Amino acid sequence: MTRNIRITVADAPAIGERRLRFVDGRSVVLFNVEGVIHAIDDSCPHNGASLANGRLDGRVLQCPAHGLRFDLVSGCVVGAPGMCLTKLVVETSSANLNTLSPHRTACGDSATGVTIGPSPAAPY
Ligand code: FES
Repeated sequence: MTRNIRITVADAPAIGERRLRFVDGRSVVLFNVEGVIHAIDDSCPHNGASLANGRLDGRVLQCPAHGLRFDLVSGCVVGAPGMCLTKLVVETSSANLNTLSPHRTACGDSATGVTIGPSPAAPY
């Protein structure tokens, strides 16, 4: 079943930052990577450690427990496909970020983030 989780755009992290949110009994970490919001379950697929305080280098998040590194865009372990984050698809609607039902991504799946901020200028 698809279920939306609503987080206000004002709650979104600034570029390069992250926010941990507890929504409907689950922990979700939002990352802003170069203006694109990515949402993941706060649970490492290796052994369940919290990822909220993992080291972020560009779009690569390192699990603080055992050091696996995940690409936030693809959800995959860097250099060893097969273990993936549980990403949430993020959409915007006016003042809300709607994250759709979490799903474990197949590596390279298209569970995408969303760009927030001003819309591109209209063409003349
Ligand atoms: S729990 Fe994350 S790498 Fe082991």
